[in-house]
Amino acid sequence: MEKIRILGDHNLRLKGEVKISGSKNAVLPAIAASLLTQDKVRLGNIPLVKDVFSMLTLMKELGSDYDLKKNALTIQVKKILSEEASYELVRVMRASILVLGPLLARSGKAIVALPGGCAIGSRPIDLHIAGLQKLGASITLEHGYIKAEAERLQGADIQFEKKTVTGTENLVMAASLARGETVLRNCAREPEVSNLCELLVKMGAQIEGIGEEVIRIKGADELGGAVHEIIPDRIEAGTFLVAGALTQGDITLIDIQPVHLITIIEKLRYSGAVIETIKDDVLRVIGSPEIKPQDITTSPYPGFPTDMQAQFMVLMTQASGTSIITETIFDRRFSHVNELLRLGANIEVSGDKALVKGKTPLSGAEVIATDLRASASLILAGLIAGGETNVNEVEHIDRGYEAIEEKLKSLGARIERIKI
Ligand code: EPZ
Repeated sequence: MEKIRILGDHNLRLKGEVKISGSKNAVLPAIAASLLTQDKVRLGNIPLVKDVFSMLTLMKELGSDYDLKKNALTIQVKKILSEEASYELVRVMRASILVLGPLLARSGKAIVALPGGCAIGSRPIDLHIAGLQKLGASITLEHGYIKAEAERLQGADIQFEKKTVTGTENLVMAASLARGETVLRNCAREPEVSNLCELLVKMGAQIEGIGEEVIRIKGADELGGAVHEIIPDRIEAGTFLVAGALTQGDITLIDIQPVHLITIIEKLRYSGAVIETIKDDVLRVIGSPEIKPQDITTSPYPGFPTDMQAQFMVLMTQASGTSIITETIFDRRFSHVNELLRLGANIEVSGDKALVKGKTPLSGAEVIATDLRASASLILAGLIAGGETNVNEVEHIDRGYEAIEEKLKSLGARIERIKI
């Protein structure tokens, strides 16, 4: 077990330059897509985060060979050795569900453990299953496993009842090898979905409407290898933008795609931060002494991302007034509130809303990370809390942030990782 210890300071000013890593939520479906071909797939800008290693462990079990050198991955699934994603692996990372579609499309069979709920909500996968059934798969749920079979998937016209990121990704991958055309309606438009579609097109898939709510896929008999770059992590970038605004700092973020951050940038500017585009992949954030309260409501892309809700909440604890944060995507994504209250924040939760009263000085305490983005928010809060904050169960943060304490230390934070 490890924890992250922070010596916080109300007068901390983070300053300097930080390189943003590749996107966790783009690399996981891209790795799963390599199941769709027996050729080599080469992926650049791989973030070295725990979820990538969990995914590669699963892929190895399914029959892949891979070589990860620094941030470059070459992966090849010459032959499917197993069609089963065990509960042991799925329990560790619910994104393992992303092998369901490609495995079924490539081998005609997939047995994937049902991911349980998690700290941020019940997170069903009924829309993944309904979509695959519409493509002709016969699916049973037995003993906590999804068992899917299909001679050859058949294109269909499918409407998602609600936008689902990994649901859209699973269906696009499955449809890429189905017979005939598939139309997917009410698709998630997250940049990570588009990055996957661009990889599939390089592999030979015929996809129209990338980034739109309606995506059309003409199934191919087989797909080939490709060379592809993973997009930068917009949530890591947003986290560091908040860090700069929170500490009246001056941080330059490199290797990012600002176009993916428009809503986050807009909200931060409204709250008083100055955000400048230095180059097309470089942003500079300068925090202001006065943080204005901002109401936010999370919504599917291009709306304000749910994965930035906890981080923004910390900023609002320092705003000069009250902010209302409404979480519309997940049914239990306020677990960070109890921990922020331990740091002295003034937040009241009622249903899907959190009322955040500022400006409230925070003071250091022992806190527990519950999920990936909640742990990032606790680290941000610890930076500006007077005294020592220990963020326990920090393995959550390593799932999606590459060396976060090193990056923050390079900007002037007094932060260290401690084995306990
Ligand atoms: C993806 O999760 C991301 N994970 C999440 O990031 C992100 O928070 C989420 O999208 C929303 O943007 C990956 O991409 C690996 P959804 P996903 O399906 O696909 C409901 C992080 O911190 N739903 O878009 O699992 C669901 O309960 C993680 O990096 C169904 O009801 O989320 C939720 O309320 C956390 N049935 C809503 O839809 C389904 O079959 C959106 O979920 C599927 C989803």
